[in-house]
Amino acid sequence: MRTPLNSPFSPGSDSVPEVWAGRLTHLDDWRSVVRPRRLAGLPERGRTILGEAGLGKSSLVRRLASEAAALGDWITPQLRIPLGADPLKPVAAALLELARQAGLPASREQRIGSLLERVETVAAAGLSLSMRAKDGPEPYSALSDLILEIGREAARRGDVLVMIHIDEMQNVTRGDALSQLLIALGDSLAHEEEVEVPGGGRLLRTLPIAVYLTGLPEFADMAGARKGATFARRFQTTTLAAIADDDLAAALQPFVLPGWPVSGPAGLPGRVRMTPQARDAIIERCCGEPFLFQLAGERAWYAGTGDLITREDVAEGWRSAEGEAESHVVRILERLPAREREFVEAMASLAPQERRLTRIAEAAGLSAAAKAGPTTQRLDTQRGIIRRGSPYTFRHRAVEAYLATDWPAVA
Ligand SMILES: Nc1ncnc2c1ncn2[C@@H]1O[C@H](COP(=O)(O)OP(=O)(O)OP(=O)(O)O)[C@@H](O)[C@H]1O
Ligand SMILES: [Mg+2]
Repeated sequence: MRTPLNSPFSPGSDSVPEVWAGRLTHLDDWRSVVRPRRLAGLPERGRTILGEAGLGKSSLVRRLASEAAALGDWITPQLRIPLGADPLKPVAAALLELARQAGLPASREQRIGSLLERVETVAAAGLSLSMRAKDGPEPYSALSDLILEIGREAARRGDVLVMIHIDEMQNVTRGDALSQLLIALGDSLAHEEEVEVPGGGRLLRTLPIAVYLTGLPEFADMAGARKGATFARRFQTTTLAAIADDDLAAALQPFVLPGWPVSGPAGLPGRVRMTPQARDAIIERCCGEPFLFQLAGERAWYAGTGDLITREDVAEGWRSAEGEAESHVVRILERLPAREREFVEAMASLAPQERRLTRIAEAAGLSAAAKAGPTTQRLDTQRGIIRRGSPYTFRHRAVEAYLATDWPAVA
């Protein structure tokens, strides 16, 4: 029997969802590039994962972090930066916690004791420290010194990686705070030190440190403008797109066969199944949006109590979710600057084969196609909402469905 208590769907939570879909290239990048290369002492950039709201940025890095934790790595909790807040304080606090986990020998080594004290001051005073401390070092240097020290301890253990995840990076609105933070992280990633190799000789290695930054696409502008080339050299940025239908189908397949295991009344094990038609109906409605995928699944689960989720359950559940699905897309559109929004709306008003730059620019009231240049570039590479081409197409399928059809209403 299915009840709200045993639903595996989790719309709106950024813990790792039980029903996981896709993101295979990102998982693979972590498993076979970032982690092994940093463990081996090879240079590998930090990762910045951006995307519109609800695309699964936080969930993705949480998943990587939980895989890392299971392997014994030292991970910070997901550090969510509140809007306008000083990011140096929570980062310093998290690093102190990692230092404790790493067992840095403050009691034995004077050097480490005073380093921890410096970072404690940053955790308490944050950025204001850099104003006061004309004589002392800037906060970033305390942070990066501690990251390196934890990294050295991890390297000594051999197979332990230090993972730092900072979320909601677009909320770091103070330029000075952002530079201090990016310099501290970037320097730690780039740092190389000499080690002795067995059999004699010395070589340079990086320390086993990985950094993931996540946030809305605006962060690319903020970091780009302020830190320019240095940031781009030290972090590799990707923009998340919708999840492919095939990946969603694979995620729902365990419901179709053999059925999703649940514990029923009196704790008896059972399985909740889904018809292939119900699976397809969920995929059709969610347009590749992870948040809407969880929402459609949850509502279908709640729409009945039987062991079989049917197409009718999905339809009935979705009707109760339409309002939320619509606000999800409206929020994304409302965040767009006027010109980008006009462009997207004009594009959606044309038939798919007519979506060519000149036609769209005309429909959006932009005099020459050239005028649309920066607008289309941002919508494409930075936000992942459209794809330039001949014709232009939508990458954000929920935005397209909302603007060009009756969606979220489904016939
Ligand atoms: N790969 C995935 N497979 C299935 N569901 C996912 C996946 N990634 C995220 N989700 C679900 O999508 C929803 C949004 O995820 P998440 O909060 O991570 O997005 P976000 O990009 O961090 O959003 P925001 O910009 O609002 O912080 C959550 O309900 C989460 O469970
Ligand atoms: Mg998030």
